[in-house]
Amino acid sequence: MKLSIVTLLSASALVSAAPFAEPEPILDERQASQSIDAAMKAKGRLYFGTATDPNRFNSGRNGAIIKANFGQVTPENSMKWDQTERSRGSFNFGTADQTVKFARDNNQMIRGHTTVWHSQLPGWVSQIRDRGTLTTVMQNHINTLMGRWKGQIYAWDVINEMFAENGGFRSSVFYNVLGEDFVRIAFETARAADPDCKLYINDYNLDSANYAKTQGMVRNVKKWISQGIPIDGIGSQGHLRTGQGADAPAAMAALCAAAPECSLTEVDIQNAQSSDWTNVVKACLNQSNCVGITVWGVRDNDSWRPQGNPLLFDSNYNAKQAYNTVLAALQ
Ligand SMILES: *[C@@H]1O[C@H](CO)[C@@H](O)[C@H](O)[C@H]1NC(C)=O
Ligand SMILES: *[C@@H]1O[C@H](CO)[C@@H](O)[C@H](O)[C@H]1NC(C)=O
Repeated sequence: MKLSIVTLLSASALVSAAPFAEPEPILDERQASQSIDAAMKAKGRLYFGTATDPNRFNSGRNGAIIKANFGQVTPENSMKWDQTERSRGSFNFGTADQTVKFARDNNQMIRGHTTVWHSQLPGWVSQIRDRGTLTTVMQNHINTLMGRWKGQIYAWDVINEMFAENGGFRSSVFYNVLGEDFVRIAFETARAADPDCKLYINDYNLDSANYAKTQGMVRNVKKWISQGIPIDGIGSQGHLRTGQGADAPAAMAALCAAAPECSLTEVDIQNAQSSDWTNVVKACLNQSNCVGITVWGVRDNDSWRPQGNPLLFDSNYNAKQAYNTVLAALQ
């Protein structure tokens, strides 16, 4: 069953009570002719967002650009396990709190990222070998993170990158110790921790409908939802290379049909053709339950994969042709 956008909007209003309209920023702060977030909202969607953290939004023109052009923030690193619970039971939220405050001060929605992921995971977790301990540790981690910002986060990536390229399950401490049941444990814990938050399963290389990993995600999410596991959405990261945008609309059609909602969560496109950006925007707009698009950073040279200038702003904070292509695709 698909949720209507009206339902999504009213749900999100609980999280982001402030009005969407922002004061008109002065042109040289915007560094782009119009806000892609405003254009996305005009299409009835919730946001056009970006990843950031204090090292970015406190530096150069990043903060001004994010305020002017984006309506949603995903913490790039600050909510990951190696940042938040480096040793068992000892939590550190300093940087993540700053990112949440930045977003809330600017009336931006937040995607929490991420509670259960095999990477950027401290060694003390990956060394656990018994079910009871790992279950308790996972539940405590989810409860503590989601509880800290309860009611403030639109969606959480509860599980990140659990699929193998062949569509099966990746080898990780979570899968190896708990089997597939770790999915149920994680999502049930997350639902109880913040009942109004949208709970997502997120992954990469879901960019073609025919690819085994995309099909594995679709097949398993349908099965888990039919079993009553509370999954609200599928996130497709969208780390693309030139030409790959062409397959994005069909891939999103498959993914979005498998869950109540969906989104593109970490988009960057190396050596993009303008058709790649157009196709990525259409891939979301074509699906009535695609709530938003998030790009993974502001400036090309701050990207985690800077080769091929994959983002919407150049190294001098100028909006690129890619930005205008996105804007045009939204109009
Ligand atoms: C998506 O929408 C565009 C135009 O709105 C259309 O040309 C394209 O065929 C659609 N693709 C899919 C897979 O629905
Ligand atoms: C990005 O480019 C700008 C402008 O050339 C430069 O000042 C800055 O140091 C670069 N940052 C990185 C991380 O390479």
